[in-house]
Amino acid sequence: DAEPLERAAALLSSGAKVVVMTGAGVSVSAGIPDFRTPGSGLYDNLQEYNLPYAEAIFDLDFFQNTPQPFYRLCKELWPGNYSATPTHRFIKLLHDKGQLVRCFTQNIDSLETAAGLPKEAVVAAHGNFDGAHVAFGKGAGTEVPVDELKEAMLFDGEEKWRALNAKYGGLVKPDIVFFGEQLPARFFECAMADFPKADLLIVMGTSLVVQPFAGLVNNAPPAATRLLVNRERVGEDSFGFGGRGFDFDAEGSRDLFHQGDCDGFVADLVERLGWRAEFERI
Ligand code: OAD
Repeated sequence: DAEPLERAAALLSSGAKVVVMTGAGVSVSAGIPDFRTPGSGLYDNLQEYNLPYAEAIFDLDFFQNTPQPFYRLCKELWPGNYSATPTHRFIKLLHDKGQLVRCFTQNIDSLETAAGLPKEAVVAAHGNFDGAHVAFGKGAGTEVPVDELKEAMLFDGEEKWRALNAKYGGLVKPDIVFFGEQLPARFFECAMADFPKADLLIVMGTSLVVQPFAGLVNNAPPAATRLLVNRERVGEDSFGFGGRGFDFDAEGSRDLFHQGDCDGFVADLVERLGWRAEFERI
């Protein structure tokens, strides 16, 4: 179906302002598995992490007693190990063109900044490794220099994170949002300020099952076109912000779905727009 590509290209070439929403799928080609794809997703590979159930890796109670699996994930994902993908570079190109209102990401890998996007252009809805705090105990809430956590995480074995725990009076956790925790205030502020400005919402590489992020699709103004680029069709029951998600099948719908890999789609879009030279310089 060429329609999503054509309609997105027409809007972008006429200067449309774009809000982008991303999930783990945009980083899969960087080598970071997503969560829910059967077989390859992190939640199907629990044996390796010794988790009792999938979401335990982002569960505060579980972390309090058993921090090793999450700390192992931190070591694996600590920024520096992976490079930005073509999709991240496309988002940077939208920014360079002055058309990106904001990129809302659920990802904690900071590959948007690796692609050159300034931090102000990104909302890290589920946090990232830019900061760290003590999660429990007498030191709860104390800010910890993130380089100290990094050193402890990259060290093989438990002695450095245990020493950090002793130094700060509790387990130290990077500022990543666990289940049941509040999203950063910036998420809600930007959700309110940015979506009204969008002519086009592009949603890529997410199953749209985690709230409140999934509900954000409803925050695009009624006149905005909403485009989903994903391996599977999702988001048709992403309730929130007064709406109920995508409606791809309605007559004359403003919602478009392209089924496939996001890197392939953005490459075709860049080509169609005649933006290839600029894209390759990013
Ligand atoms: P999921 O793993 O739930 O969904 C990833 C989606 O991307 C799936 O629909 C895949 O089919 C699709 N996908 C995978 N590779 C793709 C590709 N190359 N191109 C296009 N689509 C692709 O990941 P998220 O929706 O990001 O929470 O998960 C949301 C949250 O759940 C995460 O932020 C995480 C997790 O628990 C925290 O980190 C707190």
